[in-house]
Amino acid sequence: MMNRKARIVVLISGRGSNMVAIADNIDAGLIPDAEIVLVLSNKDDAPGLQIARERGLHTWFIRASSSFLERKLTREEYDEQLKGVLADYEPDLICLAGFMRILSPGFVQEYQNRILNIHPSLLPAFPGEDAHTDVLAYGAKVSGCTIHMVDEQVDHGPIVVQRTVPVHESDTKKTLADRVLVEEHIAYTEAINMVLSGNFEVVGRRFQLKEL
Ligand code: GRF
Repeated sequence: MMNRKARIVVLISGRGSNMVAIADNIDAGLIPDAEIVLVLSNKDDAPGLQIARERGLHTWFIRASSSFLERKLTREEYDEQLKGVLADYEPDLICLAGFMRILSPGFVQEYQNRILNIHPSLLPAFPGEDAHTDVLAYGAKVSGCTIHMVDEQVDHGPIVVQRTVPVHESDTKKTLADRVLVEEHIAYTEAINMVLSGNFEVVGRRFQLKEL
């Protein structure tokens, strides 16, 4: 048992609804003994960043380009900056919630088994940036979301939680995304509780809860 609250950092790039769901569920006591210590974005105009500020959460952004260097940062340079910021916040868990950057192997290794990502399909089906479009084009009858540990490959690490939804013939990308999003907000909380319990092991690709 930790004798302080578990420290969660949420990384976002956009509207931040998963970040809000995590914050709401902490406030509602559904993620006990935890706090969001930082919401960080790679975009200073991410709507989620403003929402986080309004609810009194610490926020930060790191741009992909450096005006000092007058160029885009390499992935490694970006992640070094990220590490520097995160070090001050001592995160127990980093939740990627619509964070549209791939993390370097060095970063992933530094926080091994402490980074979660959410992906809006049932991995390993439909990885990549436009999962809902791919699900509809393929004609899949079921979709959902996956919360997984982040490893060195994209949309790949051990699966912690999956939740499913039906795909309807009449679905558009928006109707499917909306249905999946409801499950995302539940799944992230489930996964965070599992990981923060510390009562798990990762065996090969398999995330498994230990018997108490
Ligand atoms: C979610 O659908 C998530 O699965 C995907 O990006 C979206 C982020 O939504 N990776 P939000 O910013 O949490 O509202």
